[in-house]
Amino acid sequence: MKFFIDTANLDQIKEAIDLGILDGVTTNPSLMAKEGITGDKNIIAHYKKICKIVEGDVSAEVIATDYKGMISEGERLADLADNIVVKIPMIKEGIKAISYFSEKGINTNCTLVFSAGQAILAAKAGATYLSPFVGRVDDISWDGIKLIEEIASIFSIQGYMTEILAASIRTPLHIVQAAKAGADIVTCPLSSILGLLYHPLTDIGLAKFLEDHHKANKG
Ligand code: G3P
Repeated sequence: MKFFIDTANLDQIKEAIDLGILDGVTTNPSLMAKEGITGDKNIIAHYKKICKIVEGDVSAEVIATDYKGMISEGERLADLADNIVVKIPMIKEGIKAISYFSEKGINTNCTLVFSAGQAILAAKAGATYLSPFVGRVDDISWDGIKLIEEIASIFSIQGYMTEILAASIRTPLHIVQAAKAGADIVTCPLSSILGLLYHPLTDIGLAKFLEDHHKANKG
């Protein structure tokens, strides 16, 4: 399973790169706004910065919701760097845009996916990635991980090539569950990635190893 980071924060992206485990980045308009990146010029410049430091794919979301608007915005984004993936919402016009980009060989990430039916449609349209929102499904007391399992099972039966990018990951446990459920990729905040590191027995064990070493090697 590949690890993407779900942020527009350059320091956090660099920290994940330094860990040596980062395969890509996803952003969305809320994450860009959170970093104070506003205005067309600044947004474009920020995507360029992210693409320069990241080797893997970087999802950049269109703001337009009509077909023509999504095409011109998506083509402009795709021109920014080789690793840009055009992120498109799961709406009727979005499916048309994904089909267009798929024919052109431009990578897409279909976002705001909340059902298996939506996933099938995005795969059929030729989306490169598909983003089911695990945490937001959990937020309304449904089961986000079950959704990943369902999509993974359908994609394996049907042989769809679209990669399942489990998004809206909120905890380290979500990452483990998404891996078990068959996600190809997780995109998560840095805190969830770092949360995978901790176990109290690791800390206790390491302290004991060092204590024993220092006792045996006194003076
Ligand atoms: O990038 C989309 C998704 O990961 C958003 O997550 O936590 O805002 O539901 P969240």
